[in-house]
Amino acid sequence: MSPPAAKDRILVALDTVDLTVAQDLVRVLAGEVGGFKIGKEFFTALGPEGVRTVLGSAPAFLDLKFHDIPNTVAGAIRAATRLGVRLVNVHASGGTAMMAAAATAAREAAAAAGITPPKVLGVTVLTSLDEADLEAVGQHGPAAVQVERLARLSQAAGLDGVVCSPREIALLRQACGTGFLLVVPGIRPDWAAKGDQKRVTTPAKACALGADYLVIGRPITAAPEPQAAARRIVAEIEEAA
Ligand code: C5P
Repeated sequence: MSPPAAKDRILVALDTVDLTVAQDLVRVLAGEVGGFKIGKEFFTALGPEGVRTVLGSAPAFLDLKFHDIPNTVAGAIRAATRLGVRLVNVHASGGTAMMAAAATAAREAAAAAGITPPKVLGVTVLTSLDEADLEAVGQHGPAAVQVERLARLSQAAGLDGVVCSPREIALLRQACGTGFLLVVPGIRPDWAAKGDQKRVTTPAKACALGADYLVIGRPITAAPEPQAAARRIVAEIEEAA
């Protein structure tokens, strides 16, 4: 199987509460990228109707990072599946039973609706937490060890992949093998402002390291011409391949 086209690997983060802003971005970008990431900010303001608006034009990754008892997470995943999203995620620290329930819920709800199940991803360690923060919540040892542990646990529980930072791509590709999806935010082309992202990698480098999907927000959404920025990123990935 040939790898997906560069443009299909880009998911644009729609971090807005304004439906008009979101619709404008979707209109100019739907043909340029693989889809859109919808997070808690968008979803809390605009709800399932907002998601359906996006889905009318492009695939979506529903980034709500579910973390609850298995029964509750399974229900949330069934609802996300019926919405028709392509990717959805849960916190791996919710444990094996919760992740397994999520994977089963996606499969069963999709079969009942006659649709393709969404890929269910694990979230390992939030990159906003440093080792002192982890220590404070009782998690000792290097963050990278915990990231690898939770990625392996996600895989064993039947998830399709994980969300990870650029610095973890190589480690997790090695630990989890090919076929395990790595979805990577923290992407900055050389020409884009870093904003609040500290440890960043260029789109081409992230793909070369083994990322499957790149989550890219402001380098595209805050660019003077989002469509031109998206095209420039696609061209950079293609040139480096
Ligand atoms: O604008 P930017 O490209 O920084 O957006 C990246 C998106 O990925 C945002 O929605 C952000 O919340 C998300 N994200 C991240 N870093 C992580 C996990 C998620 O930037 N470690």
